Parts: sequence; structure tokens; C-alpha cells
Amino acid sequence: MIAARACANIALVKYWGKRDAALNLPAAGSLSLTLAALVTETSVGFDPALAHDVLVLDGASAPADRVTPFLDLVRAQARVTTRARVVSRNEFPTASGLASSASGFAALALAASRAAGLELDARELSILARRGSGSAARSIYGGFVRMHAGTRADGSDAYAEPIESALADTVRMVIAIVGGGAPKTHGSRDAMEHTAATSPFYSSWIAQVPADLAAAEAALARGDLKSLGEITEANALAMHASAIAARPPVIYWQPATLAALAAVRELRARGRTAWATMDAGPHVKVLTTAAEANEVAHALAAVHGVTDTIVSAAGGPVT
Ligand code: DP6
Repeated sequence: MIAARACANIALVKYWGKRDAALNLPAAGSLSLTLAALVTETSVGFDPALAHDVLVLDGASAPADRVTPFLDLVRAQARVTTRARVVSRNEFPTASGLASSASGFAALALAASRAAGLELDARELSILARRGSGSAARSIYGGFVRMHAGTRADGSDAYAEPIESALADTVRMVIAIVGGGAPKTHGSRDAMEHTAATSPFYSSWIAQVPADLAAAEAALARGDLKSLGEITEANALAMHASAIAARPPVIYWQPATLAALAAVRELRARGRTAWATMDAGPHVKVLTTAAEANEVAHALAAVHGVTDTIVSAAGGPVT
């Protein structure tokens, strides 16, 4: 078995829509922060005795229906036909309900390619991980990461790469877990497709992304966390606005999500560094500094309906 570890990432400029579903090509670029606190470790071994791929996820046997098509890509590249055993474990704080497909497919891309005898470079790994999950392409790298939408039909220019920034050392993300009987949310894959197909605001959302990416990259280049935070929060709200306007709507927010957003605005009114983003679930992730992270976590923990908080520094690349 070959083992790999990858950190999850949270997008500051979101990926929400595809230009090609078969090759999993994003309709626009995105920009993320890789998080040290959210790690997936995955081991892969190809075994001629296996009749089909086997997945063990967090200690329990799980359906391999998203793993097998991904392993088929690795088998095709490596010219092997053997089935594999995949053992994956999320070192996420328990019951956080945080999505793990980004760290999961990034770790699987490295472990499976090595186990099959391939030596892929980081860009090739990013392209491979993208086929499993678009956000996984970004988890190949640590720190701040940009994902290119690319223009080629074969997806060879749709990969991620790291962005150097002095902010990587001082930035923190505080994750406020919103619990409490939330109904099962729509998976991001189906929900972004539904948004693209039915939301009257989808085209405005996609049209906005390049300007947000340029502004976020400029903020990273000058080490300007305030500007980065403003873009992060505005971009997340625009993404959710497009989803909320889908027909029928995709609404990920719970009452505690809005209460946490209000707490973030209140922190800012008191002069604190705090900007929020949300993904395909009710949790609120807040961009802040190492110096202010504990105060931000404390304020979010006091919000009714927030059941846990996690503070994370920037994480490293897949290993
Ligand atoms: C809201 O990467 O899960 O987290 O490519 O279909 O697997 P697929 O989608 P996925 O979508 C992530 C959506 C998001 C925003 C983001 O991470 O950029």
C-alpha cells in the first residue's frame, strides 16, 4: 500500500459551474486557501486477487462508485487493469460535516498514481485530481492556490498552481460548525449543474468571477488581508445568490448561518479582522489573523446553533 496525505481547502473565490461535465472542467477560475487542520490520509494497493475496487472510509466499507471511475483513469495512464484496495481516513474534527472530496481526491491522486507505478509532477497530479473533484485540483498545493479554468477542450490547461503571499504565514481560518438537525443538503456537483441550468443569475455570477480573481490576486501580492477578505465575502454571497435563485432554489443556509454572518459583521464593526465564506453546507468559515483567531472563534462559538469551532493555519501540499 502507498499512503498519501492531503489537506482540504476552502475557496475564497468560488468554483460554481462547469464548462464540461465529462472532463470536469470549471466554467471559471477559483482561488483557495489550503487548511492544515483538515487532513485526509489515503492508502492504495493494487491487488490482482481483487475482483473489484474496495473502499474503506473512516474504518467502514463504503461504495466505490466515485473511486472506481477515478482509478480507471489511473489504470488507463499506467496501463494496468488490476483492481485496488483504497483505505481513507479523514482526520477532521469528529462529526464536523465538512466536505472532504478536495482532500480525498488529492490524496487519492497521489497514492493511486504512485501505487500504479506512475511518477506524475504536481501539475499532472492537479489535472488528475480535478477529474475526481474540481476543488481537489487545488489541494495538491499548500497555502494560497489559483485554479485555471483553461480554454482547451481536453482540459490540459485546467490545473491549479500555488500563489506566493506573505499572508500565508499570518492568515487563519476559523470554521464555525452549524449543526442541529439540518436537512441533508444538495451535493455541490448536482447543485452547481442545477444552478447553471435554471438560475437567471448564473451568467452574472460567472461574469463576475474574473474580476474577483484579479482583485484577490492583487490583494495577495500586496499582502492586503482586508481587501482579500472583502472580495472573499462578496464572492461567496454572489455564488450563493446564484444558487438561491435557481428554480427550485438551492439554499444551504440555516438560521445559525445568518446569525454567524451577523457576528462576523459585528466583529468588523469592533475593528477586528473577520470575513466570512460559505460552501455547499450551512457552516461559516471566517478569514482572520493568527493574533485575532481565538477572539473570532470565541465570538462564533457564542452564536446559537454553532456547535463547534475549528481554527486552522494554512496547510502544506499533498505528500
Ligand atoms: C462550493 O469540487 O465538490 O466548495 O467538481 O463536481 O466534484 P465537483 O465539485 P466540488 O465543488 C466545490 C464547490 C464549492 C466551491 C469551491 O470549493 O470552489
